[in-house]
Amino acid sequence: MILQCWTVIFYTHILTSILPYEVAAFNSNRQETFSIEINRIILSHQTSSIVSSIIACTVLCIFDNDDCCSASYNEVSKICLLGIHCSPEMEESANFKTLIKKSRDVAYRKSAKQSSAYRNLTINIASRAVDGDLNKWIQTEHDNMPFWIVDLEKIYKIKQIEIFNINKGFRSSGRRLHDLDITVGPTENKMKLCTHYVGPAKSGEHLVFECLHDHEDTRYVKLMINGTQILNVVEVKVYAW
Ligand SMILES: *[C@@H]1O[C@H](CO)[C@@H](O)[C@H](O)[C@H]1NC(C)=O
Ligand SMILES: *[C@@H]1O[C@H](CO)[C@@H](O)[C@H](O)[C@H]1NC(C)=O
Repeated sequence: MILQCWTVIFYTHILTSILPYEVAAFNSNRQETFSIEINRIILSHQTSSIVSSIIACTVLCIFDNDDCCSASYNEVSKICLLGIHCSPEMEESANFKTLIKKSRDVAYRKSAKQSSAYRNLTINIASRAVDGDLNKWIQTEHDNMPFWIVDLEKIYKIKQIEIFNINKGFRSSGRRLHDLDITVGPTENKMKLCTHYVGPAKSGEHLVFECLHDHEDTRYVKLMINGTQILNVVEVKVYAW
């Protein structure tokens, strides 16, 4: 039998007055951070229960089969409402606090592949774009429609995708990133356009993209240059819930 261990840290975030508290909770395989809004309640919820504290309510949200993305807790009635919206509609309500799950980079150290590795060198392989190291990069051959794809290993809702462009080599290397299609989907055969970037980018540029439509069923994120080019980026971060 496997015993699940979890710890909850509750601390004051003194620098922001709009979100005065944060809750971070983690166990061996899950770490979540929530912001807290005071005197606010979510407008729609899926379940309602009575629990002893806001921390217990947070834990319910974390272990709610990943569907919970926001929760409201009433300090007086002890009611805990779980909702599925990550940017929930809310209204004023005394004694309620609302917890909202923060998105995080879910691509880090996930398995990635690409159309080719420049000169078949391991220093150019796909995993280098998700290793958290801004001194290592991926580089394909001069392919027709070079691509890079990461498997997030489960379904997420995408908030934003960040690309750190190549910052080494020729000054012109940064311009290789252009006519980029970012596609996302639940399987590799069901990819839909998240957004298109015309570019060209500058060396070392940090690009932040949001999908043009809601993409709540994303497991794969793919970058593809529509043209004959080298795909050459340092890091890709996928912020999601
Ligand atoms: C890289 O390896 C593949 C598969 O072994 C091979 O087909 C390709 O020609 C190699 N590319 C280079 C540039 O050596
Ligand atoms: C590639 O670019 C051409 C010309 O702009 C366009 O017609 C085509 O749909 C693009 N293909 C993809 C896969 O983005």
